[in-house]
Amino acid sequence: MVLALGVCLLSMLAVGAASAQDDAEDEEIDYPVEPPTDQPLPEYEEVRQEGDTEEKVALGEMLYFEPRISETGTVSCNTCHNVMEGGDDSRPTASGVHGQVGPIASPTVWNSAFHSTQFWDGRADTLAEQAEGPIVADVEMGMPDHEAALDRVSNNEGYRELFEEVYGDDEVTLDRVTDAIAAYERTLITPNSSYDRYVQGETDALTEQQLDGMETFQEVGCDTCHAGPAFSGQGPGTAFEAESGDFYGHPNPTYEDNEQCQEYVDRFGLMENPGRMGVTDDEADEFVYKVPTLRNVEHTAPYLHTGQVTNLEDAIRVMGACQNDEELDDEQVEDIRAFLTSLTGEYPEMTMPRLPTPSGESMMPFDEDAQLEDVADEDDPFEEEVDDEVNDEVDDEPEEGLPGFGAIVGLAALISAAGLVALRRIRAEE
Ligand code: HEC
Ligand code: HEC
Repeated sequence: MVLALGVCLLSMLAVGAASAQDDAEDEEIDYPVEPPTDQPLPEYEEVRQEGDTEEKVALGEMLYFEPRISETGTVSCNTCHNVMEGGDDSRPTASGVHGQVGPIASPTVWNSAFHSTQFWDGRADTLAEQAEGPIVADVEMGMPDHEAALDRVSNNEGYRELFEEVYGDDEVTLDRVTDAIAAYERTLITPNSSYDRYVQGETDALTEQQLDGMETFQEVGCDTCHAGPAFSGQGPGTAFEAESGDFYGHPNPTYEDNEQCQEYVDRFGLMENPGRMGVTDDEADEFVYKVPTLRNVEHTAPYLHTGQVTNLEDAIRVMGACQNDEELDDEQVEDIRAFLTSLTGEYPEMTMPRLPTPSGESMMPFDEDAQLEDVADEDDPFEEEVDDEVNDEVDDEPEEGLPGFGAIVGLAALISAAGLVALRRIRAEE
């Protein structure tokens, strides 16, 4: 009997690592450090909706990458949520048509299917509802209205054929556009992070420092807000609530009186936007923001809704002071940082889709008046540039007209610089 149990245990250990994924829920895993949640990031099947066919996802992907539904034909969803990298724009705040800069940072779209609400202030419940906004937002894609965007799509026969294939007829409606985009976004999932492997039983998936950081993360209380498998504020141990409309937010700062926090509030402009109060008009919601996911957070700098926090260490310090009333020391910060990198998953291979292009005509309308107006508005941009920049150069370098001469001077400078470096090296070696 004892022997049988021993053999049984041994064989469990042996297969443990390989089959852990399937059995994780049933088995007691002997963790070196207890994880804040034992649920791995849910799989696509858990957020996939009925009707999310391959064709619909492909259409949604095209629309996601489609710049021609922006006023200038230059800005797509991918401009600000670049799925070739962290799913954001690496900028403090978003930059849309005509180079306009918005008031708030672009969050990542990776794993956004798992959020219970969308936007920093949670003003959209679902991905489809969210996607209506940017097309007509002045500082984003800047279309005058949705009709204009839909016209651009439906004037393109290639798109009409795709809509017919997916929806049964070729009508291009806002609901269909946002439905397709959302279907694509639901596929943007990054599974299999070292954290996920850890909670599935691969108990050596985290480094010593990551384990320390995971401990600190819980001791300090970060997990009271960044909870659930997306570390996005769904309450510890609660079931997963994708697109449920339940808002999980908190004021930032929570501990406004903390001295270190006050410094951060000034430095990072933390109390300049109304937060969720802008949606609810309720004073209790002032400075309240959705608890963002910490999945792949090492790749989504700069941080916080203001995008003013340029590195992850500072974001952790801000959180410690403003959300946990604790001044974290450097070691704690480094350990937590290491832990957070264990939340980086595997990004699926992405390829840019080919977009339907009408034969022999442009998908962008040609508005002659607008074109002329643009130029007139800018007071002849060419002349200005010549005045300000080229002329300065001409003053400094009268040889402007002889590019050959410039090149020769440049080359000579390069050669002598290289010579100098070589000489230094020789000297240093002696
Ligand atoms: C000019 C930049 C820009 C463009 C273009 C843009 N977005 Fe965004 N996106 C943002 C910003 C900024 C926010 C945050 C706004 C807020 O919370 O008030 C955001 C928020 C989101 C969110 C919510 C994520 C979260 O964690 O709450 C999703 C999803 C999203 N955008 C998808 C899209 C889609 C789909 C498109 C194209 C139809 C798009 N975006 C176009 C800048 C942009
Ligand atoms: C009381 C709730 C709460 C606690 C506790 C908390 N956070 Fe946050 N966290 C938030 C909210 C809300 C935001 C968004 C705030 C903003 O944008 O101004 C946020 C943002 C972040 C961000 C920036 C994410 C991004 O994409 O910009 C990081 C990183 C982070 N938290 C890590 C931590 C760490 C580490 C701890 C523990 C030291 C912690 N948080 C504790 C609520 C909390």
